Amino acid sequence: MDKLTIKDMDIADKRVLTRVDYNVPMDEKGNITDDNRIRSTLPTLNYILNNKGKLVLMTHLGRPKGKDAKLKVDNIARRLEEILKRPVKKMDDCIGETVEKSVSKMKEGEVILLENLRFYPEEEANNNNFSKKLAFLGDLYINDAFACSHRAHASIVGVTRYLKSGAGLLLAKEIEYLYKLKESPHKPYVAILGGAKVSDKITVIENLLNMVDIFLVGGGMAYTFLKAQGKNIGSSKLEKDYIEVASKLLASARAKKVEIVLPVDHLVTDHIDSKGRIKIEKGEISEGFSGVDIGPETIKLFSSKLQDARTVIWNGPLGIFENDKFSEGTRSVAHILSSLNATTVIGGGETVAAADKFAVAHKMSHISTGGGAFLEFMEGKELPGIAALTNK
Ligand code: 3PG
Repeated sequence: MDKLTIKDMDIADKRVLTRVDYNVPMDEKGNITDDNRIRSTLPTLNYILNNKGKLVLMTHLGRPKGKDAKLKVDNIARRLEEILKRPVKKMDDCIGETVEKSVSKMKEGEVILLENLRFYPEEEANNNNFSKKLAFLGDLYINDAFACSHRAHASIVGVTRYLKSGAGLLLAKEIEYLYKLKESPHKPYVAILGGAKVSDKITVIENLLNMVDIFLVGGGMAYTFLKAQGKNIGSSKLEKDYIEVASKLLASARAKKVEIVLPVDHLVTDHIDSKGRIKIEKGEISEGFSGVDIGPETIKLFSSKLQDARTVIWNGPLGIFENDKFSEGTRSVAHILSSLNATTVIGGGETVAAADKFAVAHKMSHISTGGGAFLEFMEGKELPGIAALTNK
């Protein structure tokens, strides 16, 4: 990688201004319901603390319009304290005199968490003055927030104009895996794409068609492709306005000699709720029934296409996996992936949730922490937060 990482930097006695993504899910009372995003930064935080740095953490939480008391980061500071097993001083602001004073008095091994960056619209506007005020709180800058590195915001891009900037350990791991996929994937390279809509993933498909050998398509988006092939899809999810786009993507795949594999059978129901009849249909889907998962023949077909793969990227579930009755396709594919002798990379909130649900996440080569960022990476876009880091 041509960007500095934390390991290239001398951090002893330095104030290390570190951008993390603690945009964690919370219930209506503000209790954190999943602290994975906090835990995933631990290697970087411990590295800084063990190397005698002073840790100044900054994050956003939600999408507040101004200072919204419900989106203060106090509960995050408490959870971080439990996880880090050391005190975390939570500030009531992210810039200004009080913060500056506290930061200037910090000793080695101390931790400060700044208040929600998005309480200032200047954060998302990548405002220069605001960036300068943030940068004033550090001697060095570390980005460990891959999940927001697609945002050209002050705490991601603006600060790098003023401080030597490097990737934290979490971001460095993302860069290592994702750029390997981009620049030198081992072949055959298979992409598995699912999720509800083809319209969300057109650019992803266009970009991946230049890289992969085989595309396995499932989930809601498969029905628009099947319709484009003239198949009956019953009452399955269809994006009418995208049938032509789907046809063009199929033609482009043929021209590029990329094999697109669509489901050959389906688990269908006439009611998504518990009263619905459920059956398997081959080929076409009857009127009044909707596809809710790939069928057993498709699982076998996908499995055969995956056996020789050396690289696999997966985004989007293959059915409504949250409902156990419709989860077999996603579960089987997750298990097949976990047994392959290949580099396996998974990204996107639902796909990661599926890998967790079926207890195979730890068997993947890499689980990306990015939702929108992972998608933009798959679209072939340069992520501004990574581009902005200091070159080696
Ligand atoms: C995410 O949850 O994907 C990141 O924290 C980015 O959040 P945003 O989409 O509100 O910028």
